[in-house]
Amino acid sequence: MKRIAVLTSGGDAPGMNAAIRAVVRRALFDGVAVYGIDHGFQGLLENRLKEMTLGSVGDIVHRGGTILQTARSRAFMTEDGQRRAVEVLRGHGIDGLVVIGGDGSLRGAYALHRLGIAAVGIPATIDNDVPETDETIGFDTAINTVAQAIDKIRDTATSHERTFVIEVMGRHSGDIALWAGLAGGAEGIIVPEVPYDLDDLAERLKRTKERGKRHSIIVVAEGVMSGPELARAIEARTGFETRASVLGHVQRGGSPSARDRLLAGRLGARAVELLLAGQSGVMVGIRRGVPVDVPLERVFAGRHDLDASLIELAKMLSI
Ligand code: F6P
Repeated sequence: MKRIAVLTSGGDAPGMNAAIRAVVRRALFDGVAVYGIDHGFQGLLENRLKEMTLGSVGDIVHRGGTILQTARSRAFMTEDGQRRAVEVLRGHGIDGLVVIGGDGSLRGAYALHRLGIAAVGIPATIDNDVPETDETIGFDTAINTVAQAIDKIRDTATSHERTFVIEVMGRHSGDIALWAGLAGGAEGIIVPEVPYDLDDLAERLKRTKERGKRHSIIVVAEGVMSGPELARAIEARTGFETRASVLGHVQRGGSPSARDRLLAGRLGARAVELLLAGQSGVMVGIRRGVPVDVPLERVFAGRHDLDASLIELAKMLSI
């Protein structure tokens, strides 16, 4: 393998830059040329490739976002688009591709693998919803961002003796809500994977108020219902003044945590090593702190579950 390419795709995640840097530097370490593809699979179709150097990934390990930009491409989802992408890669003499992104991006990598391009995926999304890996790049930074937001909201909630609903990202996955809610000491955590009972929650909030608690914080994942909707439902049941705060895309930005940078470095280097060893159609993940290689078919057949012990812990700690 003499020449590889790297792209980021789907929603950006803090640590993507650290992953790009690791891919580029690991490849150059072995004398393999690396091309960066701008704007993900869409950019690939538009032939937006540029050769990367040691310098082009300098000063990015600590930066959020992605220097390669990202996109969600409809054209690439068609078979015609995928065949065109193969032609572009072959036209540049590229033998292997590293795709950094979430579930949809990994499916793109798989499509190219099936068409004969050696492709390896790296899971990167703040949602932490990719099966077969304990963690995705960006998740740790996102939950730190949310935990800090909860701390700040708690100050004003206590001052005004208010109830607050904080809406966090995660359309289908409650990981951000659960982990950050626990870290922030939330009184309630509502996630798509676990049934909830609003009357029960309201009774619990009333009891804590009677005990003298001066604020309550409920974290809800966007996939369940909107923050303002939940705030209205709680206010109607309790009569407590309830405000909603929607954190939105602030969760996707910011300098990656040390943990995300390290994860990105390890997975980025491993992805290149797999390509050099002739592997394709695999994702590099992390299990109990050790990088693992997983066939993409197994990733797609799997399911990402919330950690049941954390759900239990949240029940016990939020009484
Ligand atoms: O997949 C990451 C994610 O941040 C989700 O949590 C969120 O629902 C979605 O992306 C938002 O996407 P967009 O970039 O379209 O606003």
